[in-house]
Amino acid sequence: MKDREQINSQIAKLEEKYKDSGQDLSSYLDGLLHQRYLTYWDYIHLDTLLSLQVPRTHFPDEEIFIMYHQITELYFKLILHEQKQLVDDKSDDVDFFIDKLRRINSYYTVLISSFGIMIKGMEREQFLQYRMALLPASGFQSAQFRMIEIYATGLENLVHVSERDNFSEADTIEDLYEHIYWKKGATDLSTGEKTLTLKQFEYRYTPRLIRIAKQVKNTTIYHKYLGLSKKQKQNASLIDALKALDVNANVNWQLMHMGSAHRYLQRDSGDIDATGGTNWKEYLPPSFQKIVFFPEIYTEEELNNWGKQWVDHMFNPNKSTH
Ligand code: HEM
Repeated sequence: MKDREQINSQIAKLEEKYKDSGQDLSSYLDGLLHQRYLTYWDYIHLDTLLSLQVPRTHFPDEEIFIMYHQITELYFKLILHEQKQLVDDKSDDVDFFIDKLRRINSYYTVLISSFGIMIKGMEREQFLQYRMALLPASGFQSAQFRMIEIYATGLENLVHVSERDNFSEADTIEDLYEHIYWKKGATDLSTGEKTLTLKQFEYRYTPRLIRIAKQVKNTTIYHKYLGLSKKQKQNASLIDALKALDVNANVNWQLMHMGSAHRYLQRDSGDIDATGGTNWKEYLPPSFQKIVFFPEIYTEEELNNWGKQWVDHMFNPNKSTH
């Protein structure tokens, strides 16, 4: 009897809901009657997902390479999903802020710890051959990677370190974007010629990245922090979470990633060219890029030594890093 009452009440609510839609509830109930039961594989579009790994060569390890890039892009999407909620949130709720940062950090933790799949999980001989079939594609062209940076901090903090002091948030988005660090990394400094990888990326994504940068001007995650009260800004858990994000995104992921470049592209007699055509040994290390999303929370010394410890360790293994 109680069940019947509940069903009647639900029907009354449904009638109310569909009243203004131009169709009556009975038609919708017919639809419900004929609808197929939902399956797991349809819900997550499993067949589509598993059809997206299409190697360009016959080397078995190429599939690992494709899949791990795809997995990473999905995690980038999860990171952006949290970042967008932070940027949209107009409250000064510090717990919400910390909660979102922690989620982002947990995604980075997975990405950083799983990078061994790239470093140890493929045969170097296979890699060096199948990669020739994907020139000039490179992870350098990951638009989500660049979007994560744009949601995190003002463009002035993404200007190449050699010119960063000459720019500020007073400059236009277009000006700042022109001097962003990754453009310089993919430009031959003596001739000023951009790599094909960069040219393709700019053609495809410049309008979108500029639009996002304009949309989040003054509302990035860094701006959200800067806008908090003095007391909120001193919240130790918040500072820890922000620092963890900065180090995860701008040092630790880079270190693991760079480990793969060393494993596959380093040679005793001259290094192997990267598919994206950068001078990767100079471009990739975090201590050279010095990208810091939240500069205000660090001391001068911390900023000067950004990512340096690892580079010392990698290039001068006998030198103490303490
Ligand atoms: C064997 C594995 C890998 C190697 C050897 C490698 C190598 C490189 C190199 C040499 C560059 C410099 C740009 C260029 O000249 O191409 C680069 C950039 C990049 N790669 Fe990879 N990569 C690997 C895996 C990955 C994976 C799995 C991702 C995930 C999406 C990725 C994302 C990126 C990104 C985002 C950049 C730009 C980094 C920046 O601008 O600081 N890479 N990679």
